[in-house]
Amino acid sequence: MKPRNIPIAMPQTGDDEWHALRDTLHSGWLTQGPKVKEFETSFAKEHQVKHALATTSCTTALHLILVALGIGPGDEVIVPAFTWIATANIVVYCGATPIFADIDPDSYNITAETIRSKITERTKAIIVVHLFGLCADMDAIKTIAKDIPIVEDAACAAGGMYKGQYAGSLGVAGAFSFHPRKTITTGEGGMVTTQDDELAAKINCLRNHGASISEEQRHQGNRPYLLPDFNVLGFNYRMTDLQACVGLVQLSKLDKFINERAQWASYYQAALQSIAWLKPPKVADCYHPAWQAYVCRIDFTQIALTSPQIMEQLLERGVQTRPGTHAVVGLNYYRERFAINSEEYPIAIAAEHSTLALPLHNRMTKDDYDYVISCLKNLTTTAIPLCEA
Ligand SMILES: Cc1ncc(COP(=O)(O)O)c(C=O)c1O
Repeated sequence: MKPRNIPIAMPQTGDDEWHALRDTLHSGWLTQGPKVKEFETSFAKEHQVKHALATTSCTTALHLILVALGIGPGDEVIVPAFTWIATANIVVYCGATPIFADIDPDSYNITAETIRSKITERTKAIIVVHLFGLCADMDAIKTIAKDIPIVEDAACAAGGMYKGQYAGSLGVAGAFSFHPRKTITTGEGGMVTTQDDELAAKINCLRNHGASISEEQRHQGNRPYLLPDFNVLGFNYRMTDLQACVGLVQLSKLDKFINERAQWASYYQAALQSIAWLKPPKVADCYHPAWQAYVCRIDFTQIALTSPQIMEQLLERGVQTRPGTHAVVGLNYYRERFAINSEEYPIAIAAEHSTLALPLHNRMTKDDYDYVISCLKNLTTTAIPLCEA
C-alpha cells in the first residue's frame, strides 16, 4: 500500500462555513450577537434542553457552571482521575478542592462504585465526563449522588445519547467543546446547556462581565447609551458571531458526522478482531456514542512493545495516534499541590499508558481506514529502541 499521511483528527469545514463567515464579516456585528443567539437556539433544540449559552471554550463553560452553583473555598468537587486537565483545573479556579475518582476500565468513565467512597458532607458537585463521546452511566451515578448536583463535562459528547436522552440534558448542566479535535468545531468555543432557568440567567450574566443585560440587548434597545448594572463579579467568556456562524453550519452536519463515524467505528471493530494485542472500545446497547475519538486498549500480554514504540512505528508510516488522554492524578501540579498518591488510581494510570486513539474523522476515506488497519496488522512486534544511545 502507498504510504499516506493520516492525522489523528481533522475538522470537516468547507465552502458552507466559508460563506457563512464571509456574510457575518460583512454584517457589521462580530462579537456576541444574532449568530450566537441562533447557534444557541439550534444547539438547545438539537440536545432537547431549555437553555444553551455559548462561551469561549468548554473550560470556561465548566467554570461558569461551578461559579453559578456557588462553589468556592472549602468545597469539594468529585472529578474523574482520567480526563483532560481542564476538568480538574476549573475546580481549582473556584478555590475548591478536586477529589479524584478512579474510572471503569471499559468505558473510561467514573461510575457509582468509584465515587461512592469519595462523597463527604463537603461534596458540592460531581463532574461526570462523557469521555470520547460515550456517556457515563448517569442513572447509577444519580442514585449515589442523591441531591448533589451532577455537572456533565460533555466536551466530547455533542450529539451523544444515553438511554434515549442527549448528553447535556442529563445533569444540572452540561458543557461542550468546539475545539477542532471535537466532532463539530468553531476553532475554540464552548456551550453550556441546562434546563434550569435560574442557572441559565446567572451564567448569561457571568459570561458577560456580570452585566445585567447583554451588549446586543443594550445596543438594540431604546436607550443604548445607558450602561448596564454590574452586581456580581463576572468574566469575559463570550463567543463571537464569527465563531457562532461557523458553529451553526457545523451543527447542521452533526448527525451526519456522527453517523459516518459510527459506521467507520464498526468497520474498525470488525477489522481489528484479528489483532490480538489491540482491543477495540466496548459500547453497551443503551448508549449512542458521539464517537469523538476511537480509543482502543493495548494488551501488553500480546505485544513486546511499549505504547510510545507502537505510536512511533505508526507515525513512521504516516499514521498519527495518541494516548486516549492523561491521568490528571499523575500530573506534577496535582500530585504536588494535593499530595496525591497516584497508586490509589490504578485504572486511570493504566489507561494513560495502554489507551491508543486511532484516526477517526470525517475527512477520512475507506482507503485511509484500510491503510491504518494494514499498518496496525503489519507492525513489527518485537521491541526496537526508540533512540540509539
Ligand atoms: C473531557 C474534556 N473536558 C474539557 C475539555 C476542555 O475543552 P476546551 O478546549 O474547549 O476548553 C476537553 C478538551 O479536550 C476535554 O477533552
